[in-house]
Amino acid sequence: MKTSTRSLVFAAALVVGPLVAPHAAEITLPPETARFADSPLPGFGVATAMCSTCHSADYVRMQPPTLSRAAWKTIVTKMQKTFGAPIPDASLDPIVDYIVKTYGPESGPAARPPATDRPNPAPPRS
Ligand code: HEC
Repeated sequence: MKTSTRSLVFAAALVVGPLVAPHAAEITLPPETARFADSPLPGFGVATAMCSTCHSADYVRMQPPTLSRAAWKTIVTKMQKTFGAPIPDASLDPIVDYIVKTYGPESGPAARPPATDRPNPAPPRS
């Protein structure tokens, strides 16, 4: 009768276990900003490949959203010429286009990725 007692305990654990198990904690992570924001623009893939080797995309996001296309061209060219990023000349304009339309003056407020420095959403009421 030892076996049946054991299986009875086992069956009871199966029934009671889920009832007493604590609810899994729900964790809301802050929005991802270290990588470049998704976009159908061709420059998205190029920037991800060419701009993520030395520093995160936060360097781009932290620039003023008012930076003009010309200013971005200067920055991206500086990455290439001064800092030695291996960016082909043909990739400069697609990268600038992507940045200006995603993070810069040509992005609508809706298109702009949210900043991470805003407070976390309020925890759910229990
Ligand atoms: C070869 C390494 C390298 C690559 C690749 C690179 N960067 Fe940089 N980037 C740097 C360095 C070095 C700095 C200066 C860091 C500092 O001042 O602490 C910098 C700084 C920046 C800044 C801050 C503003 C400034 O002018 O210093 C921005 C914006 C930026 N990079 C954007 C880009 C973009 C866009 C790309 C892709 C086109 C890119 N980086 C690729 C090395 C690189």
